[in-house]
Amino acid sequence: MATFADQKNRIRRSMLNLLSLVCFSIMLCAVHSVESSSGFKVPKPTKTQAKWLDYEVGAIVHFNMQTFDRYMKPGSVASVDTFDPQELSTDQWVEAAKSFGAKYIIFTIDHFSGFLMWPSETDYKYSVKYTKWRDGKGNILSDFMKSSKKHGLEYGFFYSVHNNWYMGVDNYSTWEPSTQERYKEVVEEQMRELFNANSSYKDPFYIWFDAGIVPGVSPDVGPIIRELASNALCDECPTFAGDQGLRWVGNENALAPLPHWYAVPKGKCSMKTDNGERKYYVMTYKTVKEESNSRKPWGKLFCPANCDTVIRQHYWFWEPYTEHSVKSVRRLVREYLTSVGHGCTLLLNLNPDTRGLVPEKDHSAYEELGKAIALLYKDPVTKSFNPKLWARKEKIWRFTGFKSFNGSVVLMEDIEKSGQLVMEYELKFKTEDGWVSTDQAGSTIGHKRIHPFPKALAEKKVSAISLKINKLVTKQKSITLREVSVYNWNEAAKQDLI
Ligand SMILES: *[C@@H]1O[C@H](CO)[C@@H](O)[C@H](O)[C@H]1NC(C)=O
Ligand SMILES: *[C@@H]1O[C@H](CO)[C@@H](O)[C@H](O)[C@H]1NC(C)=O
Ligand SMILES: *[C@@H]1O[C@H](CO)[C@@H](O)[C@H](O)[C@H]1NC(C)=O
Repeated sequence: MATFADQKNRIRRSMLNLLSLVCFSIMLCAVHSVESSSGFKVPKPTKTQAKWLDYEVGAIVHFNMQTFDRYMKPGSVASVDTFDPQELSTDQWVEAAKSFGAKYIIFTIDHFSGFLMWPSETDYKYSVKYTKWRDGKGNILSDFMKSSKKHGLEYGFFYSVHNNWYMGVDNYSTWEPSTQERYKEVVEEQMRELFNANSSYKDPFYIWFDAGIVPGVSPDVGPIIRELASNALCDECPTFAGDQGLRWVGNENALAPLPHWYAVPKGKCSMKTDNGERKYYVMTYKTVKEESNSRKPWGKLFCPANCDTVIRQHYWFWEPYTEHSVKSVRRLVREYLTSVGHGCTLLLNLNPDTRGLVPEKDHSAYEELGKAIALLYKDPVTKSFNPKLWARKEKIWRFTGFKSFNGSVVLMEDIEKSGQLVMEYELKFKTEDGWVSTDQAGSTIGHKRIHPFPKALAEKKVSAISLKINKLVTKQKSITLREVSVYNWNEAAKQDLI
């Protein structure tokens, strides 16, 4: 039998339970409102980040000692005179990049071998300065910068910190404390040499630390970059990119998983997990999906991803007998659509050969890709700039004439002005059989989202599209998109490009 005290206790307990339940829901509400209310301050890009998103397509050049010798390892590198590109032309690289529409170009000025593409004055004897090539007077970095400027491309530097085989460094470590300290100094000296106010290499558009920087483990480049190169975009600079950060998307297939968010939590402007492991070196579709699901729109830092890929499947540096692996234009177009078409930027590799030239077969693939991309925008059916859409209210664009075509819908958010806002939308096509939905769910838009028409519509008469924004990251009632356009892709379909 329950005593009075028991009863009192019971009542008290249930009161407490009720109270904690209420508290818990309040907390939930609080969390929820932080996440989705007008309280969330949407991060916006800097001018440079916005410009970079607008560029959409860039190039990266892998050319270094590995072009000449692929069998090096930590502590064992090819002698300097192995490096001998007799016909080197950085103009030709930049022309190749330009032919597929690249607006900027990045160069591996230092890669795993540790060989430097500039005649460094630091106490370091593995660079162009110590070769017989051009009597040790060659300076490929400087040539590269001149060619980029001449052709109107922005330029960037790729520098490997986690590997330097010349100094015996593997995964940031020389495994020997005495040389470890020297390695740290060398990297820091080279950063100062490149970016100090009197340097002819200062102010690049883009700096990329391959495989990233692990604070506390890597040489301490952060403070130097913040002091000397804070205007440059900084790729894989997790804690020190300031507001100029970029990150690697996490796979080498130019594939941005959807939803694709630009914002990340502070200090996480990187593809790496907390402990510095590269999370997805080889990404399966499943890990791609997991990664995208784990990213949330509520990050406070604007840090968009680059979507990189190779021209030869799957080689970053040139290798003999790999011509057959140059990708088809159809495949490259597909990769354009899963990168630029998913709000990412496409970063396509160039692998100059031992002559120092982009091989002919690759060169023509770049040109074909450039033409193919241009074809995707050649025949607009309707174009609408800055349309205002009310949340959860359908807006319809009708086309003059009743056309039958393969095509695409291009959606753009005004990222520079408003940041990334759209979480979910619905896109439909009007045909003679009624309205048909897209075969891909509308999640994020970002800078650009390209929806190829569903194949089933290729023979139908599409006469209108409708767009409904279902969910925004803020509580605002409307959004002004940058652009909503429809393009005729019949010619691209005829040329078997899509
Ligand atoms: C590479 O270095 C990082 C940082 O020190 C460490 O966390 C990781 O375990 C290392 N990876 C390998 C494969 O040794
Ligand atoms: C740059 O050059 C000026 C003039 O020669 C010199 O006073 C200054 O110390 C130099 N700065 C650096 C960072 O080397
Ligand atoms: C759309 O493209 C397909 C080839 O993919 C073609 O068979 C079809 O005729 C095209 N439709 C129109 C209307 O041109």
